[in-house]
Amino acid sequence: MNDKNDFLAGAGVNTRLSHIGNSPSDFHGFVNPPVVHASTVLFPNAKAMETRAQKYTYGTRGTPTTDALCEAIDALEGSAGTVLVPSGLAAVTVPFLAFLSAGDHALIVDSVYFPTRHFCDTMLKRLGVSVDYYDPMIGAGIESLIKPNTRLVHTEAPGSNTFEMQDISAISAVAHRHGCVVTMDNTWATPLYFKPLDHGVDVSIHAATKYPSGHSDILMGTVSANAAHWEQLLEAHGALGLCGSPDDSYQILRGLRTMGIRLERHQESTLNIARWLEEREDVARVLHPALPSFPGHDLWKRDFTGSSGIFSFVLKVDSQEQFKAKAHAFLDALSIFGLGWSWGGFESLAVHAGLSDRRVSKAPSEGPVIRLQIGLEDVADLRRDIEAGFAAAKAL
Ligand SMILES: Cc1ncc(COP(=O)(O)O)c(C=O)c1O
Repeated sequence: MNDKNDFLAGAGVNTRLSHIGNSPSDFHGFVNPPVVHASTVLFPNAKAMETRAQKYTYGTRGTPTTDALCEAIDALEGSAGTVLVPSGLAAVTVPFLAFLSAGDHALIVDSVYFPTRHFCDTMLKRLGVSVDYYDPMIGAGIESLIKPNTRLVHTEAPGSNTFEMQDISAISAVAHRHGCVVTMDNTWATPLYFKPLDHGVDVSIHAATKYPSGHSDILMGTVSANAAHWEQLLEAHGALGLCGSPDDSYQILRGLRTMGIRLERHQESTLNIARWLEEREDVARVLHPALPSFPGHDLWKRDFTGSSGIFSFVLKVDSQEQFKAKAHAFLDALSIFGLGWSWGGFESLAVHAGLSDRRVSKAPSEGPVIRLQIGLEDVADLRRDIEAGFAAAKAL
C-alpha cells in the first residue's frame, strides 16, 4: 500500500479528521485504537527496566490510546507534541505552571475565560508571579506593557463572552522580541479554523470538552507546543502527575472524526441566527467576529478560515436597573435552549454573561449580554424559541 501519511499531508480537512491519529496496521487492522487501561507496564528484563528502553513505561506517561489522540492533535495543530489534561481549564493552568516562576510577570488578555483569571489572581499570585491584564485590541502596542521580568503573554481570540479579536501575529512578534512565551486558548476556532502555531504562538490550548467532544459528556484539555517549548511542557506535565484517561481519550478521538462536519453545521446555523438577530429591534448589538459590523471583523477575516457556534448579543433595555430582570425573563421563557455552562455540544444553550471581572475591555452598556451556543437543532425551531424569549422580556 502507498504511504497514507504522505497522502494525508495534502488532503482536505474531513479526510484528515477521518484518518489521523490511528494506525490500524499496528492493531491487527482494527480501524480504531484499543482502549488500554494501565498503570503498570512490564519490562522484559532488568536492563530494559533500568534504562526504560521501551515505548511505554508507565500508565501516566502515555498508552496507545492517549498516543493516538495526541498524534491526531499534533497533526491538526502542527505541533511537536501534545499533552492531555483532565479539563480545558487545566490546559490553561499547566503551561502557566510550566513556563512561569516566582518573580516573573505575565500579561493576560482582559477578555479571558474567567476561571483563567481566577487562577492568575489566586494561585499564580501566591506563587510569586505578578499579572497585568491587557486590552484584547492592543496588537503590537503590547510592547509598552512588557517589563524586564515579563515571561509569558496569554492570548484568547475571540475573547470569552464578548468575542474581541486579537492580532495574534503582531502580539507574538513583540512578545518573542522580549523573550516571552506566547500561549493561546484557541477553543473557539479549533485548529480547523485557526492554527495558532502558524501565527507565532508557542503553546496552543484547547478545551477538548467543547467541539472535539461535541456531546457534552467529556471533560478534557489538550496542550500542544512547538519544538522549542515541547520538552519544558512535557516535563511540567509529568512533574504534576497529570494524564488523560483512556476512555475519555477514546471518546475525544471518536469526536474528532465528525468535528469538521459538525462545525460546518454550527457555523451555518450560528451565522443565520446572528444575522437575523442583527435585524431585530429587541437587540442592541450582536457580538460575533464573522459579522462585518463587529469591530474585530477584519482580523477575523484576515486570519481565520471559519467561525464556530458560540456568540453573544446585547438585549436592548431602557435602563441599567432592568438588565438582570429582562435577561432572566428572556432565559426563563426558552424551551429548547438549555440554561447551562459550556458549549460545543449538540444542544443549544443560553447564558446571561457575567462581565463584572473586566478591568480594561468594558462590558457593553446598552443592555445585558446573552451568550448563545447554537447546537445542531433546526434553525427554525431555535428562532421560534428565541422569539419566545424576546416576547417574555418585552412583556416585563
Ligand atoms: C474559552 C474557554 N477555555 C477553556 C474552558 C475550560 O474548559 P473546561 O470546561 O473543560 O474546563 C472554557 C469552558 O467554558 C472556555 O470557554
